Amino acid sequence: MTARRFLVTGGAGYVGSHCVLALRDRGDEVTVLDDLTSGHAAALPPGVRLVEAQVEDAATLDAVLADGSFHGVFHFAALSQVGESMAEPLRYFARNTGAAITLIEACRRHGIGGLVLSSTAAVYGEAAAQPIAEDTRPNPSSPYGESKRAVEAMLHWAWTAHRLPYAALRYFNAAGADPGGRAGEDHRPETHLIPLAIDAALGRRPPLRLFGTDWPTEDGTCIRDYVHVTDLAAAHLIAFDRLAGGPVTWNLGTGHGHSVRSVLAEVERAAGRPVPVELAPRRPGDPARLVAASARAQAAGWRPRHAALAEIVSTALDWRRSHPGGYGQC
Ligand code: UFG
Repeated sequence: MTARRFLVTGGAGYVGSHCVLALRDRGDEVTVLDDLTSGHAAALPPGVRLVEAQVEDAATLDAVLADGSFHGVFHFAALSQVGESMAEPLRYFARNTGAAITLIEACRRHGIGGLVLSSTAAVYGEAAAQPIAEDTRPNPSSPYGESKRAVEAMLHWAWTAHRLPYAALRYFNAAGADPGGRAGEDHRPETHLIPLAIDAALGRRPPLRLFGTDWPTEDGTCIRDYVHVTDLAAAHLIAFDRLAGGPVTWNLGTGHGHSVRSVLAEVERAAGRPVPVELAPRRPGDPARLVAASARAQAAGWRPRHAALAEIVSTALDWRRSHPGGYGQC
């Protein structure tokens, strides 16, 4: 396939940077638009142009898109913490939903071929039936989920009125790191289970606070569907390439749930050291169980190739070991 040109918003962030790697590995040309508030310039591979700006900056966005014929846009730039969104809902609607209006309008103006949205399983809220398929009615239980659900709705109506093709990709729990060690997870502050458990095992953080052991699950801890970030990146490329067939909404997960305790056991096995744990109350907003049915993506040819929890944890561990200070200190 001949090289194509893409704009990746939030391309210096965790999932975005892995998508940039996948595009560059395929030989595509990439421009990243990122304000670097949570992304890292060091996460970008050579040959990628970085425009340091927010998506809301319509003038810069216009200038970037006017500068060349982009085949498509991958939109990752967003706030993504459920807990933070409960405290600051309006900021989430402004940064996630409001910014997307600017982006969608710019895509229209510049005749962009399609937009792939980084969405989330948080659009479902507490779904009764598991695994969750895409026809489950969205019922977000946080402003974060609601802000992404609103972007999906805008894309639907923009498609209906203006024929801007789109894919909404609802991730379950993104985890792991580039198997080649080129990128990894560096959130500040970090709130996710696997990097926190690894750093606790390596003695770099205090004991992991285990949020609840009285959930209605087999071992009393929450069940999540951890999906390798490199598999997520691959799904974006597949989704873009089939946009000619019309809009898609896909769940991205492995279909296998792992309890918090089983993740901790895997981290201990991989690190060869115990994960110090402190029992803590349930974290508000946590659903007991979130497992994906990803039949739609799989029917389009997507396979989670790094689905084993051991591989997810070992790639994350390798990256934390080689980057003890994250992107700040290598
Ligand atoms: N957990 C702990 N202690 C910690 C951190 C997490 O016990 O210090 C537990 C949580 O309670 C949860 C599980 O580990 O049961 C996973 O928690 P994460 O914070 O790693 O991930 P979440 O499931 O809360 O959220 C992630 C993304 C969201 C997305 C959601 C959708 O961060 O953006 O998956 O599945 F919406």
